[in-house]
Amino acid sequence: MKVNFVDLKAQYLSIKKEIDEAIHNVIDKTAFSSGPFVKIFEENFARSHDAKYCVGVNSGTSALHIALWALGIGKNDEVFVPANTFFATPEAVSLGGANPVFVDCEPDYFNIDVTNLEKVITNKTKVIIPVHLFGQPAQIDKIKAIAEKHNLLLIEDCAQAHLAEYKGKPVGTFGVCGCFSFYPGKNLGAYGEGGAVLTNDKELYLKMMALRDHGSSQKYYHNYIGHNYRMEGIQGAILNVKLKHLSQWTKKRKKNADLYRKYLTGLTDVCVPLEMSEVKHVYHLFVIRISKRNELKKYLEENEIYTGIHYPIPCHLQKAYDFLSQQKGKFPVSEKLADEVLSLPMYPELKEEEIQFICKKIKDFYQK
Ligand SMILES: Cc1ncc(COP(=O)(O)O)c(C=O)c1O
Repeated sequence: MKVNFVDLKAQYLSIKKEIDEAIHNVIDKTAFSSGPFVKIFEENFARSHDAKYCVGVNSGTSALHIALWALGIGKNDEVFVPANTFFATPEAVSLGGANPVFVDCEPDYFNIDVTNLEKVITNKTKVIIPVHLFGQPAQIDKIKAIAEKHNLLLIEDCAQAHLAEYKGKPVGTFGVCGCFSFYPGKNLGAYGEGGAVLTNDKELYLKMMALRDHGSSQKYYHNYIGHNYRMEGIQGAILNVKLKHLSQWTKKRKKNADLYRKYLTGLTDVCVPLEMSEVKHVYHLFVIRISKRNELKKYLEENEIYTGIHYPIPCHLQKAYDFLSQQKGKFPVSEKLADEVLSLPMYPELKEEEIQFICKKIKDFYQK
């Protein structure tokens, strides 16, 4: 049995008719860039996360960049980001000219560890960007309290956490804005690139709407130097179809996570992901920790089971950040995770017998 890491084709086939129709409608109306299909999606996506406004853009990286940009974060400013995240989080900070300040992560939930955060706040610190990594919300209450006490802005990186909840409230509006990615493999994925920013602040919304479109809110009148970060009409139409299924798909991800836990019981060397109480984890990824990670990955691959590593190098040790002179050993939890994490196949269409097969092969690996 071959098990892919993700299976975008299976999902497409399950909603083929709706998707084909949606694409056809966009072509028929030639609404290729922004336009009515993007607008409808923005309204629906904002509603699904209890937000007032949504700005559709062309990637999650653009979403983070435009949020920081609209808030005036730039040269000489410092922004807290987790060391254990996808590179785009600090990259967006650097794109705007500010400096990322890396923070280690918690060993249990893999999210930003705020225990010692207050000690490293300086007069240059302006923003905290927690990432709801793998689909599990970060400890928002604690982060918000620190942000409020020190007058810092809070921007959530929700790229992996569509419909995730913290204490019953969807992620995305705990701070001034929440940034999402619709990269194809995400829980809500476009058929190309896409992203969005949610906010409840009207002024900020209008500024981001202008920045994504060459700084203009009226054609050929430019109030700011902006960029072309517009979302494509076809992506808006596709995302709008997929959004209707997202809640069901999220339930299936959760069910698959429970099945993994059931079938991995008894393997003491395998740490399954822990769920915080009072959160809704949406399982973008199901990430286990094991000491013989590389050997297990290879063994599973030999058995046609494809896995991922999120992430093999923490952000502070990426070559691109050599100029920040970060030493190995500075963020021990993130560095250890980089050697031990393994992401097992996780998607709504994954079948119970496939999960059983994966877990059996993991057990076989330990009995070799
Ligand atoms: C945590 C995180 N932030 C930001 C991004 C950037 O999103 P995109 O790839 O759509 O630019 C991603 C995407 O992988 C991500 O996982």
